[in-house]
Amino acid sequence: MRTLAVEANHKIGQKVTLFGWANVVRDHGKITFIDLRDMSGIIQAVAKKDYGVTPEDVIKIEGTVKKRPEKLINPNLPTGEIEIEVENLEILNKAKTPPFPIETNGLDIEEALRLKYRYLDLRRPRMSQNLKLRHQMISLMRQFLTERHFTEVETPILTKTTPEGARDFLVPSRLQPGSFYALPQSPQQYKQLLMVAGLERYFQIARCFRDEDPRADRAYGEFTQLDIEMSFIEQDDILKLTEELFKEITEKVFKKKVLEYPFPRIPHKEAIKKYGADKFDLRPKKDPNVLAFAFVVDFPLFTEQTKEDFYHGSGSAKFAPSHHMFTAPHPEDIKLLDTDPQKVRGLQHDLVCNGFEVGGGSIRIHKREIQEKIFSLIGFSKAQKEEFSHMLEAFEYGVPPHGGIAPGIDRFLMTALAEPSVRETIAFPTSASGQTAVMDAPSPVDEKTLKELKLKKL
Ligand code: AMO
Repeated sequence: MRTLAVEANHKIGQKVTLFGWANVVRDHGKITFIDLRDMSGIIQAVAKKDYGVTPEDVIKIEGTVKKRPEKLINPNLPTGEIEIEVENLEILNKAKTPPFPIETNGLDIEEALRLKYRYLDLRRPRMSQNLKLRHQMISLMRQFLTERHFTEVETPILTKTTPEGARDFLVPSRLQPGSFYALPQSPQQYKQLLMVAGLERYFQIARCFRDEDPRADRAYGEFTQLDIEMSFIEQDDILKLTEELFKEITEKVFKKKVLEYPFPRIPHKEAIKKYGADKFDLRPKKDPNVLAFAFVVDFPLFTEQTKEDFYHGSGSAKFAPSHHMFTAPHPEDIKLLDTDPQKVRGLQHDLVCNGFEVGGGSIRIHKREIQEKIFSLIGFSKAQKEEFSHMLEAFEYGVPPHGGIAPGIDRFLMTALAEPSVRETIAFPTSASGQTAVMDAPSPVDEKTLKELKLKKL
């Protein structure tokens, strides 16, 4: 029966069989040290014979677990007090020399090479640890929300435009040539429709698709959100739920400290005045073991329209929604929509952590006439309004007051783990130029496929 590396700690004096990869091989003449790496960690094996093992070979070791002499104990290794005395070693699968070292943290290696061989890059303990922590965080989110009577619902990927300020990805329809699906930039419209459907508490570990320039904290193409929506609540309820969840994640998953709890709530104007930005780092010393969360509230409902505001408006209006077009105006400011729209505050909330915007959300508009007014104010053309007529129609069938938030899973992980980029937290991210990891996409398709889709080659 197989013993995992860490399980050997409890089997001193016993014969064990281990399986894994040769992490490092050190030849000392008469004896060879082979570090075996498996899903649980790394363990040192000592062989008195040359078995011809080279790094990354898949091996099976049969041997006895021995306590290491006091002065050879390695306190940095969970199995540092023991080693395996090799009695038999079998190479199950020989490996070529990898294109880069695996025992290092890998951050100095060219990213394109790491992504081409991502299945090797993920063997490094830092990367596999990141994936495991990602899983633990998502499990905690599911458990936390399930306990509070939220229902996880999957919403469509092949859909209609749901703008969040980026360009859409389009998928050509074979059955309706000349028509396209858009991949959702977020499940925003569907989650609101689920509130119309009476679900009241929804969440989803949701993939979002955005064609926008990548940055260290912004993945190109796709990323994941914890998407949440609730009915019959106020902004305070969403913020409380969010801070409780993120405190628990910080302490239980990352074993770090939250700087201030409840999270400070800072009006947008004050943040700009004090920190010069709507995201900021509240840590006095940049202690990586501390997560300093805050909420930014009272954003202006509109901002200047920029070239980047794809689909926010037709380009004819001076301003665009500062969050998205479904965010409710502050009830005290509704009158200003007619007279001075740029003074209107929105019921938007951003979650900020250690200098990054790690989540965003709002209380939504749930009245048709206000939604229509916002469409007009952001300069929507008739055709653009038509694209969202299903929302206006749904608003006529009894809509509960509702709101939500969507923390970014990849971006929060990057922040919590103090990684230099979101790509360090995603198994198979695209490169900064939009190339997929390992598989070479986007790639051309053959004439026959194009013909079927009624598409012409450029
Ligand atoms: P928003 O567009 O602010 O809101 O996105 C919410 C959070 O998602 C993360 N995020 C990203 N992470 C990695 N790469 C990206 N390209 C990227 N873009 C966004 C960020 C951000 O704070 N539907 C609304 C939410 C709502 O109103 O409930 C939305 O998507 O952490």
